[in-house]
Amino acid sequence: MQPTHDAIVLGAGAAGLFCAATAGQGGARALVLDHADTPGKKILISGGGRCNFTNIHTAPERYLSDNPHFARSALSRYTAQDFLALVERYGIGWHEKTLGQLFCNSSARDILGMLLAECRAGGVDLRCGHAITAVNYSDGLFRVETAQVAFAAPRLVIATGGPSIPKMGATGFAYDLARRFGLKVVQPRPALVPLTLAGEDALFRELSGVSAPVVASAGKARFREAALFTHKGLSGPAILQVSSYWRHGESIGIDFLPDKAPGWLLSAKRDRPRTQLRRVLNETLPERLALRLDELLGVAGELGSASDKSLRSAEQRLSDWRFTPNGSEGFAKAEVTAGGISTAELSSKTMEARKVPGLHAIGEAVDVTGWLGGYNFQWAWASGWAAAQAI
Ligand code: FDA
Repeated sequence: MQPTHDAIVLGAGAAGLFCAATAGQGGARALVLDHADTPGKKILISGGGRCNFTNIHTAPERYLSDNPHFARSALSRYTAQDFLALVERYGIGWHEKTLGQLFCNSSARDILGMLLAECRAGGVDLRCGHAITAVNYSDGLFRVETAQVAFAAPRLVIATGGPSIPKMGATGFAYDLARRFGLKVVQPRPALVPLTLAGEDALFRELSGVSAPVVASAGKARFREAALFTHKGLSGPAILQVSSYWRHGESIGIDFLPDKAPGWLLSAKRDRPRTQLRRVLNETLPERLALRLDELLGVAGELGSASDKSLRSAEQRLSDWRFTPNGSEGFAKAEVTAGGISTAELSSKTMEARKVPGLHAIGEAVDVTGWLGGYNFQWAWASGWAAAQAI
């Protein structure tokens, strides 16, 4: 079979569309295939419909991977500022919500519309509703068959993402394909995902709907954002962030009062001996949470009658309350998948497989996972751009 294109990109998500558009504008005949009926479905639901399309504090340290240095090259060559310049060129209104997170003013549709316009400018052949039935390689050509038609090209880009939110068409196809080509896959696991509580911790599930600004930690990772109690356990940005670092069997810590100086409870005893602990807690924390913590701390009566030792221990516990989640809400609720195609198999410059010349992997399919807050899209743009330079 003669080549039909210069590159076939599997997956019309953030990474695939951007890679194809960039390669197309560089002169390559790029084809994008997706089994879904329309492109960029995750883009449309992202950021609550407003797409947190990048983060101006993007840095390799804000990504998880078996090789923490891998993302450095791509992220430094296609930056958040580069993507922002493109957004501005399209006249898309944006704002910084918090912590460097850039969102569309109006709708995530603006970002998808921009990507599709970029694809058109690059003459990209975009075909949705194409289930991939076979992928083979011989004589320097990748041959991809769909139920409708077969294509061939000297380059193949795996951009089918990870299995998070399967009801949106997400699959583990990238891993199956990578393994077939002899590439290792780092065990995929749900990330940026709510955690579930059982046993003694389950008491907190009664606080469903209560949220508080905290510092949450898992190992050395610490995030100062909101935590939210749910009817299954814990969620909210602080918890989603630590979930990416958390492993089964480990505990996470929550500092419920991160702004209090050490010794604050003894000072409160000295200054206001007639006050009860629940009152003091409720000055900073929502009432239901303050009551539950007070109950569990067991400091009865007025602060003035509590021993210094019991107050020191209460303060210590409040600053690092240990929860041992019994699991997470899984891929069904995970915003991203951690793990994926091993970076040890890929060139950090071109995202090309060392063992299989012409085969590239980009985006969430790869073992690079960003923090919450626009980091994952920035990885999709940067890795897609890097692969496109080689096409
Ligand atoms: P992506 O999943 O976008 O695309 C993969 C494509 O491959 C899909 O179009 C899919 O249909 C297709 N595909 C899959 N299997 C296939 C198969 N077997 N055959 C053919 N095609 C196949 N990130 C961020 O930075 N800011 C944000 O605001 C958000 N918000 C957000 C909200 C929600 C609810 C979720 C679930 C996720 C986010 N994310 C996010 C994460 C972000 O959406 C994600 O990191 C990127 O979409 C990854 O881009 P990819 O192109 O790698 O995969």
